[in-house]
Amino acid sequence: MTPDLLDEGAKRAAAYQLREPPGKTESGGRAAGFARVMTDGEVDTTHGRILYLEDVSVSFDGFKAINKLSLDIAPGELRCIIGPNGAGKTTMMDIITGKTRPDEGTVFFGSTIDLLRYTEPEIAQMGIGRKFQKPTVFEQLTVFENLELALKTNKGVQASMFFRLDSGQSDRLAEVLHTIHLADSVTRMAGNLSHGQKQWLEIGMLLMQDPKLLLLDEPVAGMTDEETARTAELFLKLKGQHSLMVVEHDMSFIKSISEIVTVLHEGSVLAQGPLEQVQNDERVIEVYLGR
Ligand SMILES: Nc1ncnc2c1ncn2[C@@H]1O[C@H](COP(=O)(O)OP(=O)(O)OP(=O)(O)O)[C@@H](O)[C@H]1O
Ligand SMILES: [Mg+2]
Repeated sequence: MTPDLLDEGAKRAAAYQLREPPGKTESGGRAAGFARVMTDGEVDTTHGRILYLEDVSVSFDGFKAINKLSLDIAPGELRCIIGPNGAGKTTMMDIITGKTRPDEGTVFFGSTIDLLRYTEPEIAQMGIGRKFQKPTVFEQLTVFENLELALKTNKGVQASMFFRLDSGQSDRLAEVLHTIHLADSVTRMAGNLSHGQKQWLEIGMLLMQDPKLLLLDEPVAGMTDEETARTAELFLKLKGQHSLMVVEHDMSFIKSISEIVTVLHEGSVLAQGPLEQVQNDERVIEVYLGR
């Protein structure tokens, strides 16, 4: 084992260890002190935003997939994003997670971290977890091993070989198992789980890293009604402890979890507000709901 490599990893981990800002009040409200000096890696949400996009645009071969998109999300918020196919929902997540670079615009994590300056793995490590539509669990490993593995990512091969859960991590694993309703399936092969359970396991793998912000792209696609209802319960439970951005076409699911809904169309925000309000918006009916 190379101590310098481990040292390096430990330093990087410490730099990105995300803790609640010291000024945060117990009720989850904002502390009075603004313009505080933040320590390395902390997300400054004193201005009431965990994510902030302004005038973001990106073109693919001359086609504007994202067009002057502006939007922000509050700490602990569960934001739903809806909109027609091709509206730019997935592309927006690609931009937030560093997979796609915008041509112009501003993307901030809290009020101090300029996400456009970081790579995809760095952004993941800072506390932005992303769930793609298709489950990507390790089918040949057990539920437990999948969750354990989620802690090893970014640690390098050598560190992983000698990896042991410490007591904090064991507690976290037990808590996550309970949250994702898989406490009875610890030793089951992930490949034998139902589609819905695989999706929950993947969400659990993200939760092992205790992300500040979770981006979930069509999480209930292909789920049974019962699995969808349990997923709604799960998201409502995660809200508050994490900020969530959920893209879905399933309107009854959206109805069961939504606070503020943002409607994307042609790469920008067409409407935003409580579900009932956007559902009655003529422009939204025309481009999306009325199809
Ligand atoms: N890497 C890429 N290269 C070229 N075109 C792209 C790329 N990524 C996205 N697009 C285009 O950008 C537009 C927005 O796509 P995006 O996948 O973000 O839509 P979406 O809102 O997620 O749609 P859906 O609801 O179908 O998932 C589409 O026209 C798509 O073809
Ligand atoms: Mg999409």
